[in-house]
Amino acid sequence: MTTNISFLLNGDTISHDIKEHWTLLYLLREELGLIGTKEGCGNGECGACTVIIDKLAVNSCLYLAIEADGKIIETIEGLASTEGNLHPLQQSFVDNGGIQCGFCTPGMIMSSKALLDEKPDADREEIKHALAGNICRCTGYIQIFESVEAAQEKVAANKGGKDE
Ligand code: FES
Ligand code: FES
Repeated sequence: MTTNISFLLNGDTISHDIKEHWTLLYLLREELGLIGTKEGCGNGECGACTVIIDKLAVNSCLYLAIEADGKIIETIEGLASTEGNLHPLQQSFVDNGGIQCGFCTPGMIMSSKALLDEKPDADREEIKHALAGNICRCTGYIQIFESVEAAQEKVAANKGGKDE
């Protein structure tokens, strides 16, 4: 069965016909072409598919697309400014070695953004807790935590992202 849903995606209104069994991850990647959001495990264990829905970090592989109706959704594609400047978190991951293969990075950054939007002065333990559901096979995590911390001041000052 096909259903039409509408939602705000990175500041743009999207209206799309979906099948009721589709996940939000499938809708984003396969239907809307937003392949920045990654599919790792496909069952809620790796965090590679993390997006922000109504300010909360969510595993889009476990979230039915039909539930997105009426929601405000942010993906990694929405973070850079319309002029092409990276969001402070993206730039900080580049500058502080938070990226190696990069597969986990969109999920790491979206989980970090949800945290810093809510609590810009989060401490190391709070950052660790926010990223506990995001798995990285490359970095050993320390550079990721440092990347988030190094971005905190700029995120608080600039509240980056074109939807803000
Ligand atoms: S792909 Fe969604 S948690 Fe792994
Ligand atoms: S940078 Fe490779 S999985 Fe994290």
